Amino acid sequence: MDESDLEWVLSVEQKSYDYPWSQKGFENSLDQGLNYIFCSEEGELLGYVCMLTVLDEVQLLNFCVAPNHQKKGVGKAAMDALKMKLRESGFNLILLEVRASNLSGQKLYQKCDFHRDGVRANYYRCQLWDEKSMELLEGKEDAVLMSCTL
Ligand SMILES: CC(C)(COP(=O)(O)OP(=O)(O)OC[C@H]1O[C@@H](n2cnc3c(N)ncnc32)[C@H](O)[C@@H]1OP(=O)(O)O)[C@@H](O)C(=O)NCCC(=O)NCCS
Repeated sequence: MDESDLEWVLSVEQKSYDYPWSQKGFENSLDQGLNYIFCSEEGELLGYVCMLTVLDEVQLLNFCVAPNHQKKGVGKAAMDALKMKLRESGFNLILLEVRASNLSGQKLYQKCDFHRDGVRANYYRCQLWDEKSMELLEGKEDAVLMSCTL
């Protein structure tokens, strides 16, 4: 991924998440290190991943498949390829946090041999429907901590 991909990445991000990263967030991730886009054989962009590394550990910060390519095995194939590349580069562990409500994300990670390590309570902000006032209120949501040994 480089700056020329950001327009596409941002448009996918906004369609894919209730709380998308900002342009600044992606610019910071480009400055900080490991970022990839994944593509089809014809060069069509399918998704992206942003990571941070500390020694032999990789923190997966964002992993996203474009909505029109989801549920076709792209996420699984991209994660398998990424794990192989990271293993070959000498990394030993991938860590990530995923919203407790993000069941598709957790299922994908389980399918890719990530294990659930625990929960970080009230980690993410979210909106909750309040029956009493009949409006959306700012709330908190747990993060599920997962890891995969390479
Ligand atoms: C989560 C995400 C990356 C999955 O990518 P994908 O390409 O659709 O996943 P795949 O087609 O490779 O599916 C792999 C497995 O993930 C799970 N999965 C994927 N989409 C799912 C869905 N909508 N509901 C339930 N499980 C789902 C299934 O276990 C699936 O295996 P199966 O088809 O054999 O049952 C994709 O939905 C996405 O980008 N979502 C928005 C961003 C996001 O939430 N990222 C993860 C948190 S950081």
